[in-house]
Formats: sequence, C-alpha cells, structure tokens
Amino acid sequence: MKILMLSGANLNMLGKRDPAHYGNDTLVQLQDKVCTYAAARGVKVVCAHSNSEGELINIMQNSACDAIILNAGAYSHYSYALRDCIECLSVPVAEVHLSDIYSREPFRHNDVLADVCKACFVGKGIQGYYDAVDFLTGNE
Ligand code: DQA
Repeated sequence: MKILMLSGANLNMLGKRDPAHYGNDTLVQLQDKVCTYAAARGVKVVCAHSNSEGELINIMQNSACDAIILNAGAYSHYSYALRDCIECLSVPVAEVHLSDIYSREPFRHNDVLADVCKACFVGKGIQGYYDAVDFLTGNE
C-alpha cells in the first residue's frame, strides 16, 4: 500500500511556526517520522507539499497512491475547490490538523473538508498522522 502525505499552506514553516500549536519538528522531520512509522507496518508513504491551492488539487488528482493523508493548513477552513477535488477522488482521504482547530480562533472552527474526508484527526500533533496511517491501513 502507498499513502500520499500531502501538506498545504505554510506547513513548510513548521519548526519556525508557533511551537505551542505545532510542536518543534520541521516538515521534513515530521515527514520522516511518519514514513518510518508507516514503513514499520509495511506501508510506503510518499510526501508532497505545496502552498498553492491549485497545485494541491493537481497533486491529489494525479497521485498514484491508494490513500491520502491531507493537512491543507488554512485552506481547510474555506477551500471549496479542495473540497470538490476530494469529493471526486476514488481513494480515501484522512484529514489531519496538528493543533486543535476547535479550541482556537473562531475562523478555524469551520472545516469545509471534514465531511468529505473519511476521518479527521485533530489536535494530537504527530500522533494524528500515526492514527491516520492506522485508519487508512485498517489497523486502528
Ligand atoms: C493546521 C491548522 C490550521 O488552522 C492552520 O491554518 C494551519 C495548520 C494544523 O495542522 O493545526 O496551517 O492545519
């Protein structure tokens, strides 16, 4: 099984962004840890990042993966374009947010991707990515 771990807007700034919300890992460190966790379970994770909404759509539409773990960053709160894309995909998408979006600013409480994703893991830091791997591989 191959999973795409796709990171959206500003997630390339992990390690520099507010560690109280996002922890200290850089995006590369986070990706390495998720790849290692998945590899130990016989699953390959390929990683991609874009700050651009259209590019995230292109990556998802052209991915040759069996499932997607998506943290779209702030696009999650208003991108109907990403929502429509996910709705059309034939592979399951698990959404992850490192921080607890529901206990932060009100604009973060609205997640327009949540109900077209198969599962959402919120506010658990990297554990949310591990849980998404387990969910997508049926090892919950
Ligand atoms: C985030 C939460 C979003 O509200 C924010 O815009 C991000 C990161 C998270 O992982 O907690 O960029 O998706």
